[in-house]
Amino acid sequence: MKPNPKRILVTSALPYANGQIHIGHLVEYIQTDIWVRFQRMRGHEVYYIGADDTHGTPIMLKAESENITPKQLIDRVWHEHKRDFDDFMISFDHYGSTDTDENQSLSQTIYLRLRDAGLIEKKSVEQAYDPLKKMFLPDRFIKGDCPKCGAKEQYGDSCEKCGATYNPTDLKNPYSVISGATPIKKTSEHYFFKLSDPRCENFLREWTQVKTALQIEAKNKMREWVGDVGQSTLGDWDISRDAPYFGFEIPDAPGKYFYVWLDAPIGYFGSFKAFCANNQLAFEDWTSPNSPTEMYHFIGKDILYFHTLFWPAMLHFSNFRTPTNVFAHGFLTVDGEKMSKSRGTFITAHSFIEAGLSPEWLRYYFAAKLNASLEDLDLNLQDFVARVNSDLLGKYINIASRSAGFLVKRFDGIVEESAFNHPLILNLQSACEEIQAFYEAREFAKALRKTMELADQVNVYVDSEKPWEIAKRYALDNAPLTGELLQRVCSVTLEAFRILTIYLKPVLPQLAQDVEGFLNIPPLTFDRVHEHLLATHPIQPYRHLMSRVDQQMIDALLDANKAPTV
Ligand code: 2FM
Ligand code: ZN
Repeated sequence: MKPNPKRILVTSALPYANGQIHIGHLVEYIQTDIWVRFQRMRGHEVYYIGADDTHGTPIMLKAESENITPKQLIDRVWHEHKRDFDDFMISFDHYGSTDTDENQSLSQTIYLRLRDAGLIEKKSVEQAYDPLKKMFLPDRFIKGDCPKCGAKEQYGDSCEKCGATYNPTDLKNPYSVISGATPIKKTSEHYFFKLSDPRCENFLREWTQVKTALQIEAKNKMREWVGDVGQSTLGDWDISRDAPYFGFEIPDAPGKYFYVWLDAPIGYFGSFKAFCANNQLAFEDWTSPNSPTEMYHFIGKDILYFHTLFWPAMLHFSNFRTPTNVFAHGFLTVDGEKMSKSRGTFITAHSFIEAGLSPEWLRYYFAAKLNASLEDLDLNLQDFVARVNSDLLGKYINIASRSAGFLVKRFDGIVEESAFNHPLILNLQSACEEIQAFYEAREFAKALRKTMELADQVNVYVDSEKPWEIAKRYALDNAPLTGELLQRVCSVTLEAFRILTIYLKPVLPQLAQDVEGFLNIPPLTFDRVHEHLLATHPIQPYRHLMSRVDQQMIDALLDANKAPTV
């Protein structure tokens, strides 16, 4: 670690515990993981924390439909999620759950402090109720005919046929998706977090507009919601749900539960607290209001509202630190369209691995398209095949495979160290700062573009020096000068390959580790860019580092995801 490392806590959004991880989720986990690995490679103290988001009505009902308890369901899904994250090399320091004692106790503490601060209010709410199932119905559990075009089986918020938006009470012939019964209206007491309180409004105006360097699109969105003084559109936030509900009961309110979105972000802290307990870290050092540590949340743009309004307000008024920043990304499309089960493009993480595709191909492709904005990102399957093969195999791996053999066969793997003041090497080293700045700013596409430009330069060098011709000549003349030349050219080439591997390591951690083994060097970090291969550490015989992707694998992947079980 550095002498004065930054202390950084990083999270990705917590996936719901009722579905599989798919490639849409992976955009975020891969983005976060690359940034985390980059920060670790710079020598900072970084903790990457995740958890499953386990509460709420859909999870309760899914468990019921499978004839198991919610706890059994979330336990099973936790293992599936963990397997998928491990497969894609998402390097969580801790992967927990929101259904833990730590999270319950933190949720209660935060709630009680908000209540003591006068920011919790009880109000009567009239809602749709399923008289057969005896439960209140969230909007998406009510269907009916569209009030505008009459289309049948539309959800309570919008019509998929004509695009109209409305309230569930506007639906014609509404019915409960759970029991089929006609919902009735029923009143119940709900607990609200008073976001409209002037204290909250003022805090959020300052936090979103002045204090935090939010992305510009996010800042503008928040300005619309928080508005100028007297113009806020913030409403109070309903944080309770009635039994039956799978979640945490609210203190002093029997039969009332925290809405899942209340305890979900607190789950970042709950999961981190469990990690601290097992790793002799002081949780309070990281979570108290004036903590010198940094905290970043990576999220999708659809949940900005929760992370830049509710969450910081909850934290601030319960005497915890607020996020240093929130980094939102756009959605994934596949071949320009929303992921679709009928086209087979709703690709699960597990199916990707099962189909024999390398997770590092996807990591590379996403990274090559990711930037710091909220723009959507397209996985174009043809481009995926072309890009992986041409960049990773054609430009990068090719460099090692073309020169390592000569060095091992003719020189026992020993490099010529005096070759390393070659202008090509100096040029590669000099790009280090720029590439790090791109990673830091989450401009991964730019970092990789620059790296591939450097790989092009190395290939131009190899093509002009033609080590295979020097090797032929050497086989014939066995002259010391020819030998020296061959050893120098191969040494420069492999040293260049070492530097390129540093630049790719946050994206391709497994490949980088294999290269470290092959080059017989300690783990690569950005500081090591100015070191070089050593004659005392002979490189190992070249082993196959990565294979090509072919279109048939993609076809098989799409077919696998067309199956009704996914
Ligand atoms: O939108 C979702 O998938 C939520 N499960 C994300 C929760 S993020 C955090 F707040 F817990
Ligand atoms: Zn309609």
